[in-house]
Amino acid sequence: MQDNFSERIRKSARSHSSRIVLALDIVENKIERLQPRAISIINDLSPYLSSVKINFHLLLPLGFKEIAKINDIAHANGLQTIADMKLNDIASTNETAVNMLWRMGFDAVIANPFVGYDGALDAVFKSAHTAKNGVILLVYMSHPAASEGYGLSIASPKRSLFEEFISRAVTWKADGVVVGATAPDRIAAVRKRIPKETLIFSPGVGVQGGDAKKSVQAGSDFLIVGRSILESSDPVEAAKRICRESSNRSFA
Ligand code: XMP
Repeated sequence: MQDNFSERIRKSARSHSSRIVLALDIVENKIERLQPRAISIINDLSPYLSSVKINFHLLLPLGFKEIAKINDIAHANGLQTIADMKLNDIASTNETAVNMLWRMGFDAVIANPFVGYDGALDAVFKSAHTAKNGVILLVYMSHPAASEGYGLSIASPKRSLFEEFISRAVTWKADGVVVGATAPDRIAAVRKRIPKETLIFSPGVGVQGGDAKKSVQAGSDFLIVGRSILESSDPVEAAKRICRESSNRSFA
C-alpha cells in the first residue's frame, strides 16, 4: 500500500538527514531560464533536502508540463514536493486547483483555514486524502505583521484566530501546519495541542531572523528555507549548515 504524504516526507527527511523544505523562489527575468535553474538547483542540493516547495515564483510563469517535469526531477532525487498556493476559495474552485496540482505531481498543498471547511476546504481534504497527498494549513505566519491577522481575537468561540486555527487543524485532520520560525514560543504551544504525527513546517529561518536550532527545539519538524540558501554564495554549504543546526532532535 502506498505511504501517505506524512510518511513519505518523513522517509525523505530520514534518508537525507535533512529537515529542509527548499522554497524554490527563483527570481529570474528570463522565463525560459526558470525551469533549467530549478532543475539544476534540485540536482545540486537534493542530498541536503527533504522536499521542495513551489510558490508563485514558478507557478505563475511556468506551464503544466514544465512544473510536472520539475516535480518528476524532485521525485527522482528522493524529494517530496509542496505547492504553496495558500488556497482560500470555494470548494469547486479548490477541487479543480488541487486535482490539477496532483496531476502535475505535487504531494501536498498549503491552504488557508480562514475560509472554513464546508463548501470550501472540505474539497481539498477529500481530494488530498483520497490521493494519499497532504494538506498543510497556515496557523501562524512569520512576517512582522502576522499578529495583525493571526493574533486577532474572535468573539465566538472567544479566543485568538491563532488558537482557532490550531483547533481547525486538529479537527480537520491536517497533515501539517505552518508556524513561523520567528516565534518559537508559538511553535511550542502548537506542538502541545496537535497530535504528534501532525507535522510543523516553519518558514522564516535566516533572512527573516528565525533560528533553525530553536525552532526544532520548540517542536518544528521541517524548516522552510528560501533566500538563506538560494542567495548564499555557496548554497550547498548553506544547506549543510542548516542541516547541522537542525540536527539537535532526531527524526521520529
Ligand atoms: P524565505 O526566503 O524567507 O522564504 O526563506 C520563505 C518561503 O516560505 C513561504 N511561506 C512563508 N513565509 N512565513 C513566511 O515567511 C509564512 O508563514 C509562510 N508561509 C509560506 C514564502 O512565500 C516563501 O516562499
